[in-house]
Amino acid sequence: MEAFSTDEANENKQKYDLHDRVCKLKAFDESKAGVKGLVDAGITKVPSIFVERPENLRSALASGDSCFRVPIIDLEDIAKDPSRHQEVVNEVRSASKTWGFFQVVKHGIPTAVLEEMLDGVRRFHELDAGEKRCFYSRDFTRGIAYHSNFNLYRTEAANWRDTLFCIMAPNAPVAEDLPAVCHDIMLEFSKQVMNLGITLFELRSEALGLKQNHLKDMDCAEGLVLLSQYYPKCPQPELTLGASKHADSDFFTVLLQDHVGGLQVLHQNQWIDVSPVPGALVVNIGDLLQLVSNDIFKSAEHRVLANNVGPRVSVACFFYTAASPSPRLYGPIKELISEGDPPKYRETTIMEYVSRYSARGDETSALQMFKL
Ligand code: OGA
Ligand code: NI
Repeated sequence: MEAFSTDEANENKQKYDLHDRVCKLKAFDESKAGVKGLVDAGITKVPSIFVERPENLRSALASGDSCFRVPIIDLEDIAKDPSRHQEVVNEVRSASKTWGFFQVVKHGIPTAVLEEMLDGVRRFHELDAGEKRCFYSRDFTRGIAYHSNFNLYRTEAANWRDTLFCIMAPNAPVAEDLPAVCHDIMLEFSKQVMNLGITLFELRSEALGLKQNHLKDMDCAEGLVLLSQYYPKCPQPELTLGASKHADSDFFTVLLQDHVGGLQVLHQNQWIDVSPVPGALVVNIGDLLQLVSNDIFKSAEHRVLANNVGPRVSVACFFYTAASPSPRLYGPIKELISEGDPPKYRETTIMEYVSRYSARGDETSALQMFKL
């Protein structure tokens, strides 16, 4: 009998490996218990479906003893003191252009609300698997969906993270539809984040030299989606990531993180820690704001390291209408365009942007696909 050629043998092995991986992904997904379920079952090794390529791991691009620090902006008194307001507009402009990331302090949301929100998310993820199961879904049009890795079947390596996805605006869910262990605080926290989001859209509009209401009048503040993340303690944190390198596909994200740390932003080709600051919120620009600002503001890539001290809890508040099919078109803002500064992107709907972004195997910016 004729032996297989090496090529054929390799091809067969690849097919077998792929089939094996899909079976493992399915088994994990069907457990409906997420990464937390694996940890509770006592695993001591990271399963192969979570193992990242070496070049993506924490060791690959060392952060070194960089002197870079993510800017911290103090929002106190901006409504009362016009000169302070102008300073903050300048700080927002500079941070949005160079980093795409900053932290805000004295932002008006009481620390007790932030802490209770983190506790509520922790309570949800630490429910018995049987109690969380009824929320498990990959159907994001439902408005509430608990799952692990929204793109589980598309990426090369799954992340060490579980998520509770909730659409809070334009149509807020009723308390009874949300998990009982956190419904009150989710509704309260979202209301406060929406108010802060509107202030941030105003500051951003001014930072672009536009009228204060410009971005809000474009309906940028219509939609709010909360991703309540849980990054369980990992037995081999050097083999996987909590979140792979990605850009957010929204206008911007307000992120509440606990004290554990692990979030990093890629700045001048170095991974810089976005260190937890008590009472602060992280703000980062997403692809849609980069698009409408015609590249004046940058959507920065970021990731989350896996840790062995966790669990780590965070809440990423995405400003966009991800799941409602609004026909509204977004393109570079006319006032920012001139003969010398022609539009860099074609117009698109939020739905189109998000579906083209999510259809790929990675979560880096999809803006290239919309370049003129
Ligand atoms: C995200 C994200 C960071 C974090 O959800 O897009 O980047 O710290 N989260 O959880
Ligand atoms: Ni993100």
